[in-house]
Amino acid sequence: MSYLLLYSTQDGQTKKIITRIADNVRRAGIECDLRDLSTVKQINLASYQKVMIGASIRYGHFNSVLYKFVTRHQKQLAQMPTAFFGVNLTARKPDKRTPETNAYVHKFLIKSPWQPDLCGVFAGALLYPRYRWLDRIMIQFIMRMTGGETDTTKEIEYTDWEQVDCFSESFLQTSHDNAL
Ligand SMILES: Cc1cc2nc3c(=O)[nH]c(=O)nc-3n(C[C@H](O)[C@H](O)[C@H](O)COP(=O)(O)O)c2cc1C
Repeated sequence: MSYLLLYSTQDGQTKKIITRIADNVRRAGIECDLRDLSTVKQINLASYQKVMIGASIRYGHFNSVLYKFVTRHQKQLAQMPTAFFGVNLTARKPDKRTPETNAYVHKFLIKSPWQPDLCGVFAGALLYPRYRWLDRIMIQFIMRMTGGETDTTKEIEYTDWEQVDCFSESFLQTSHDNAL
């Protein structure tokens, strides 16, 4: 038995975070498959012991592949230990880094037919030089409004890697009441 770790990413930060989690899981002696949600259509989750999904926010929304996947697989997801985490820049502020205080993750949990056993929020990365000019201007505007970094020559990683390692540990411990 192994774990399935799925991600939805735009600029690679969610993949970087879930890859670290995969490394932690493997270090604990458990095999895991790491897959990009945008390339996964139908998958039989029954061959996995646990599932984790990580996804990032772009202009206020998770990628629609996330909702499609959890809707399509809700029955199987409800029968096994699962975890979810969201990645965004709002979470660079520690008081916006929990499922209750992060508006995107909070909204996802209300909307989603799938309720994960474990849920987390991680701060992402601000990568101005890599953005297309319109995105760069938009993000700079949002940063100005929210008291963040406005220097467009900068790349800043806000992810707290200790928090990611703690989340990996919690995932290893996660169980599910109705698990088969
Ligand atoms: C075009 C664009 C739009 C974004 N929109 C938001 C947003 O609405 N709220 C937020 O908190 N972060 C927003 N972010 C920040 C991303 O969530 C953050 O950079 C994250 O690290 C992206 O993860 P990824 O590389 O896995 O896609 C945005 C970033 C970009 C480039």
